[in-house]
Amino acid sequence: MNDVCVCNSVTEEDIRRAAAAGVRSFEALQRLTGCSGGCGGCEQEARQLLSDIVTEITCAHPTSHLRPSNDGQ
Ligand code: FES
Repeated sequence: MNDVCVCNSVTEEDIRRAAAAGVRSFEALQRLTGCSGGCGGCEQEARQLLSDIVTEITCAHPTSHLRPSNDGQ
């Protein structure tokens, strides 16, 4: 698989895994993966890819965060 970030060998799959683990910001992605920690040439692509993946995730589960809690009240 092609690296999104060549400097730090971060792939699209790495970004998908990070988003699935709850990463929602580019800064959090950088901390977790090291993406864009070198030349910075991948930043635009990485930001767009993360945004697209987060949209995919939230659109696949649009109301899951709105369900009432099941605590008996
Ligand atoms: S390609 Fe990602 S920091 Fe250089």
